[in-house]
Amino acid sequence: MARKVRRVGGIVRPPGDKSISHRVVMLAALARGKSELSGLLTGDDVKSTARVLRQLGAKVGTIRVDAVVSVEGRRFTRPHFRLFCGNSGTTARLMLGILAGQKFAATLTGDASLRRRPMRRVTEPLRQMGAPIKESGDGLPLTIHGGKLRGLTYSSPVASAQVKSAILFAGLTGDVPVTIREPYRSRDHTERLFAHLGLGIHERNGAIVFEPPNRPTAIPPFQLSVPADISSAAFMIAAAVLAEDGELLVENVGVNPTRTGFLVVLERMGAHVERINLRDEGGEPVADLVVRPAGLRGTEVTAAEIPTLVDEVPVLAVLASRAVGETVFREVGELRVKESNRLELVASNLRTVGVRAEAQGNDLHIEGTVAAPRGRIETALDHRLTMAFAVLGTVRGADVKLSEKTSVAISYPNFFRDLKQCFE
Ligand code: S3P
Repeated sequence: MARKVRRVGGIVRPPGDKSISHRVVMLAALARGKSELSGLLTGDDVKSTARVLRQLGAKVGTIRVDAVVSVEGRRFTRPHFRLFCGNSGTTARLMLGILAGQKFAATLTGDASLRRRPMRRVTEPLRQMGAPIKESGDGLPLTIHGGKLRGLTYSSPVASAQVKSAILFAGLTGDVPVTIREPYRSRDHTERLFAHLGLGIHERNGAIVFEPPNRPTAIPPFQLSVPADISSAAFMIAAAVLAEDGELLVENVGVNPTRTGFLVVLERMGAHVERINLRDEGGEPVADLVVRPAGLRGTEVTAAEIPTLVDEVPVLAVLASRAVGETVFREVGELRVKESNRLELVASNLRTVGVRAEAQGNDLHIEGTVAAPRGRIETALDHRLTMAFAVLGTVRGADVKLSEKTSVAISYPNFFRDLKQCFE
């Protein structure tokens, strides 16, 4: 008897870009006047940023699906309580930069996962700028005393947009020049937004340079529409590639070249994602993406490519597990300090469902298979692990059980609805 073909179809619009959403809410809260933001991610991480900014005195409207959120910047005042950043590394690290330039002390903390994540990569350069920081180890909670800052020229040992952005925000709020070099170019949303708002940013000899245009720097209120997050779109794209027939349209996706490594690697593995209706939205390139099922082959993902797809490694690893031959991800040690130890958990969960996968030093090796994946996935409450393995669960014959499903609320609240809809 013929088995039903796994057919994908329809249109999906993933939620707003998480990185851009954090940044625009922060910049709007620092602006003098009323900004209007649409397309914001309604996930828990952006709500953490909004909550922290409200504690500092900004008026941030409720973040709801399809809402235009108005934000009124105010001079920040000392918070009465600790600033709780939930699960969000971007909130904690970028807010440290913003707080470095304020005239009061504030204590930041987060959930158990965030409290384990390294903060010294940010506190170290901020200290060099003159911000006293009290910490008891390389993590949260910590107390930062904002104040008068001095300029900084800094070579970051990690290619991290959060480190870079924290320093840029400290330069902005402290009205001091900063120059940053990074080993590989990380996502440049902060730079693009600074440029969009006329905030004195440019590139000089491969370094990112912020020079306060006037002192104190007045950030103008603005209106901006946030595109869909390519890191969330990646799960739908992966599900469509693994299907057996049909075509999926993924709408309004940010295709900033510092974020599209997933599409570049996918192309090398044998799946072409067509970009149509290319346009610009607040200084960011945006497109609709057309995806069709494809047979995949293994590839090598280089260290230089990792920052352009750092959040997509779990779902790319899942795709690699269905490819012909071996895939190697070079220099992915950073995955150990994401929302979970993604390097070990991707490998161990793949092994659980019958795939040969191993972390060797800082590299991740995966051998593709055609066998149906079966087993129980430990997500460790990590949204991207949950979604990556849910995608693996869509292949023929799969029986993939997830330890929980609620973590998707961090970055893609309607993930399971959208995934189901792609296959109807
Ligand atoms: C982000 C930067 C990346 C990424 C994270 C969001 C940002 O982290 O993994 O999800 O918005 O700047 P790192 O800066 O630690 O690489």
